[in-house]
Amino acid sequence: MAINEITRVASHEPAGPGYRFLVLDAPQLAAQLVPGQFVHVKVPALEASALRRPFSVFDADNGQVALLYKNVGRGTAALNTVQPGETVEVMGPLGHGFPETCKGVPLLVGGGYGVAPLYFLAKRLLAAGIGKPILFVGGRTKDDLLALDRFAALGVEVRTATNDGSEGVKGFVTEPLDDALIELRQKDEPFELFTCGPDGLLKAVAMRATGTGMPGWISMDRHMVCGVGACFACIQKVKLPNGDVFNARCCVNGPVFKAEDLVW
Ligand SMILES: Cc1cc2nc3c(=O)[nH]c(=O)nc-3n(C[C@H](O)[C@H](O)[C@H](O)COP(=O)(O)OP(=O)(O)OC[C@H]3O[C@@H](n4cnc5c(N)ncnc54)[C@H](O)[C@@H]3O)c2cc1C
Ligand code: FES
Repeated sequence: MAINEITRVASHEPAGPGYRFLVLDAPQLAAQLVPGQFVHVKVPALEASALRRPFSVFDADNGQVALLYKNVGRGTAALNTVQPGETVEVMGPLGHGFPETCKGVPLLVGGGYGVAPLYFLAKRLLAAGIGKPILFVGGRTKDDLLALDRFAALGVEVRTATNDGSEGVKGFVTEPLDDALIELRQKDEPFELFTCGPDGLLKAVAMRATGTGMPGWISMDRHMVCGVGACFACIQKVKLPNGDVFNARCCVNGPVFKAEDLVW
């Protein structure tokens, strides 16, 4: 059941050029959120009539909720000015997250700020002793590879790719991912894919899940307005078990969907 919590900004630090970590004292939300769910933030410096902005949860622990965001437009520019000690209204938990189980090696695949829900997932999987996650992360340049030190501190193996070759493999993150898939299949080791990032990456990962017959969990990044299922702004076509195609709303039926259910 979603609540609207008046949270207090605990810290607001840079996370790389154009990116920031926003940590909120939010005991009620922190106790309820699961990886892959999102929150809808009322940006304080925007006018009262402005819409909320959706963000994945980077971490929820010890009464705090952390977000990792990119400054892309009016809402995130206003969010950028929020100072520690100020209050921020946050609605959540919203949507369906990732399963917190995994049969085999958890392969986490992120692009840019798409690593946000994967950090929370990695932390929960490790705490529950479920597999040893490997993170595959891609970006245009090394400046888009976020929170790598935090993943490493958790004990997650990190494999990187950048379009310009400034860090890791030069090219798409699917290159190191494909190498790992070949290796795992040669060893007959099962795996599951969990992904969040730009549409092209989501589709590429979903195709690899369906192509290998392994489970894939895809977090869709659709433009959202209400965040609670009322406006139909966030439609994604999905297949029903009887083969019919259904207009799912990412905010309530997702944002995480099974790879095999998505219609691209
Ligand atoms: C479920 C979900 C989780 C998200 N998690 C995160 C997160 O963890 N960190 C983060 O930085 N952002 C995240 N986003 C995206 C974030 O909500 C948008 O970047 C933000 O709302 C933009 O607001 P704005 O007013 O600054 O930009 P606007 O002025 O509204 O838009 C600026 C530009 O960004 C584009 N844009 C806006 N929203 C999206 C979107 N959802 N996807 C792709 N392009 C968009 C616009 O088309 C425009 O080109 C998430 C979105 C969803 C739906
Ligand atoms: S954002 Fe309104 S229905 Fe999903």
